[in-house]
Amino acid sequence: MNFHILTLFPDMITQGLSQSIIGRAAEKGLLSIEAVNIRDYTLDKHKKVDDYPYGGGAGMLMQAQPVYDAWKSVEEKLDVAGKDSGRPLRTVYLTPQGQTFTQELAKELAKEEDLVLLCGHYEGIDERVLEEIVTDYVSIGDYVLTGGELPAMVMVDAIARMVPGVLNNEVSGISESFEGNLLEYPQYSRPEEWHGKRVPEVLLSGNQKNIDAWRKEAAVCRTRERRPDMYLRYEALQACLDCLKKQKLLHMDMIELINRGQARLVYAKGANICLYDGASGIYFHTAETPDEGMLALQALREDANVTGGLELLVLHQDFMRGAAEGMLDTKALMSCYQAVYTRKEKLPIAGLYRLDGRKQEEIAEIRQLTLEHLDIVAANYHTVDDAGYIKDRIEKGWMFGAFIEEELAGFAGMHTEGSLGMLEVLPEYRGRHIGKALETYMINLSLERGMIPYGQVAEGNEVSRKLQEALGLCFSKTMVYWMEKI
Ligand code: 6GU
Repeated sequence: MNFHILTLFPDMITQGLSQSIIGRAAEKGLLSIEAVNIRDYTLDKHKKVDDYPYGGGAGMLMQAQPVYDAWKSVEEKLDVAGKDSGRPLRTVYLTPQGQTFTQELAKELAKEEDLVLLCGHYEGIDERVLEEIVTDYVSIGDYVLTGGELPAMVMVDAIARMVPGVLNNEVSGISESFEGNLLEYPQYSRPEEWHGKRVPEVLLSGNQKNIDAWRKEAAVCRTRERRPDMYLRYEALQACLDCLKKQKLLHMDMIELINRGQARLVYAKGANICLYDGASGIYFHTAETPDEGMLALQALREDANVTGGLELLVLHQDFMRGAAEGMLDTKALMSCYQAVYTRKEKLPIAGLYRLDGRKQEEIAEIRQLTLEHLDIVAANYHTVDDAGYIKDRIEKGWMFGAFIEEELAGFAGMHTEGSLGMLEVLPEYRGRHIGKALETYMINLSLERGMIPYGQVAEGNEVSRKLQEALGLCFSKTMVYWMEKI
């Protein structure tokens, strides 16, 4: 990922971000941080970049021209490098008048290949240039700083650590404060006793189940005490879980979204619920009656207006389709049954696949895919026509391949919102249980990581349905309906 920071104080940025984890990630080439000096772009012969505001008032304003030309230099460089995606270049203006920066926004911005951060100074920047280049207005909290440099550094730090490979420990990006609407539990290291205080006995017990339960309880207590606002959100989501579980199979996508800490609550009244998944940008909706469902759709529409729009929506009732089409400018994309692996025990793997090393040529070896496989996966996977999506899934470590004699025979993965899928066996390898091997592997891996494995089977896809049935997955009686923006 590449950060381009437009600033009058480039040294502040380069010095501040050349250390520790972020500095190391930049050295490794996982990210680049470029500070563009706005002053280099002024056409004024005295290198002036500011002037008095029309209408009077305190202080000086940064003028439009140097800011625009500095931004344009970044845009043109990306253009020359062939990186013009057709979308506007994501450009954040750091200002106390922006939306508050959150972990959710950090995650969303981490998906960008290039990100421009514009730091203001003095009393601000001429409004006209902001109108032309800024896509997002962001504040880091309700207080006023002297300039946008520290906020930009805060954002780079929070976003960069979501980029695959920046943190050594891959799970630490997932289970931590602000994920799952709970703060982190307290931690202890040696010695067992310090200043007369002993480490809680349960942590020394070696009983992982008890340890996990203790940590969960401690996280809940701590959140209630220290962040009552966050605790209310947590409680509201728990109440949703109780409602959703009354139709477990149909709602497994929403249930797992909450369990995995990915859900933001948009609307809830009884069993009429709308969730937003910041990781995938997908809205999820369920309703008891058309009228009550409409209220949830209205809340969804307002939410989408504030947070960058609606791309994809998953409905859980047939009777909401007409309303979603009319009211939200969406059209039907596909209808799917939920397929849920309801047991806790892993599936047997004997004769299906092996993990690295063992000699047994006729059965597949399954391992995580790397970017060298991107082209072959993209060429063989037709449901999502987007190589960028597959690249993201590979980079996040969620694509796996079955290899026979070192040749890729098939692949499977986990979608951003959490369902298992992207299963494909290359034509010359079909009829050799490779699909079953891959599906089994994904189910067992999900269980190991504390998730309930589920996937979605498109209406009419009998091959996939047969496979899921053979592995003992349970199907929802009714379907979910994917809607996409027109
Ligand atoms: Cl982004 N800029 C300034 N100047 N002050 C802030 C801020 C940003 N966020 C909080 N305070």
